[in-house]
Amino acid sequence: MTIKEVQNEIIRLKKEKDICILAHSYQAREILEVADFTGDSYALSKLAATTKNSTVIMCGVRFMAETVKMLSPEKKVILSCPVAGCPMAEQMDVELITQLKKMYPDYIVVAYINTTTELKTVCDVCVTSSSAVKIVKQLDAENIIFIPDCNLGAFVAKQIPEKNIKLLQGGCPVHAAITAEEAENAKKSHPNAELLVHPECIPAVSEQADYVGSTSGIMDYAVKSDKKEFIIGTETSIAEHLQYMCPDKRFYPLSKNLICPNMKATTLVDVLNCCKGDGGEEILLDPDTIAKARKCIDKMIELGG
Ligand code: 13P
Ligand code: SF4
Repeated sequence: MTIKEVQNEIIRLKKEKDICILAHSYQAREILEVADFTGDSYALSKLAATTKNSTVIMCGVRFMAETVKMLSPEKKVILSCPVAGCPMAEQMDVELITQLKKMYPDYIVVAYINTTTELKTVCDVCVTSSSAVKIVKQLDAENIIFIPDCNLGAFVAKQIPEKNIKLLQGGCPVHAAITAEEAENAKKSHPNAELLVHPECIPAVSEQADYVGSTSGIMDYAVKSDKKEFIIGTETSIAEHLQYMCPDKRFYPLSKNLICPNMKATTLVDVLNCCKGDGGEEILLDPDTIAKARKCIDKMIELGG
């Protein structure tokens, strides 16, 4: 079968079986083309709460599929590729955070959405990269423990100096590996380009950027900008998608190492198999865990707007 034939079969099965496909912007182009909705973690969470279809296939990583299930427990939710997890989501566990809450009773716990459902049961509010600053600003609490990403946390703390934000040593192994020197060298190699980076990068990289934002934020910025050249400091797929969207502009990945193997794990054939009912993994969460964990997702949507 050609790519086009596989795509046509997916589109046919979607209609026949009342399936909605959500795809994170890091997915391959041929997957984005068959998706009903694409976007960053925040946009996908909001869409997950409103979609009417009886089955949702999430092309992304496990915590994203779990978020869909939490918001739509009555739906059949399938993670397109069962091995696609986010390593950052596994970095901290319930025990650690419960201990911290005992040590710091006057702090509230703000969790990046890149966490497990289990961990969300002991957190107060979730944020995504695009909503973190807006949400933390609105919190009544002054004292905050931000988990697990210390780089996103440092970015938020810098925007909101009036809050006392404690960080833990977690983060994205893909983004955090980019060095300040790589950013300097990329800027020297492309002196006319603007540097756009994800807040999961270390502060020494973000500080050199012209824009820091989520995957969708970076894409919107580049599409709307009058500038012609951009160095893209997030997963290389974003530079590739932007190059197709804006053929008159030039996009350079900040590093060829900015590849998330988990986000790249889903193939178009995985999506086809999910539509056939013969692939992926159905997400099953017990109702009690959903009830405890979704409070912080609901609060994120309430404050994130
Ligand atoms: P976004 O919310 O910006 O899409 O980020 C998700 C993610 O996993 C980035 O590495
Ligand atoms: Fe997780 Fe980083 Fe991959 Fe995003 S890029 S899914 S944070 S490992």
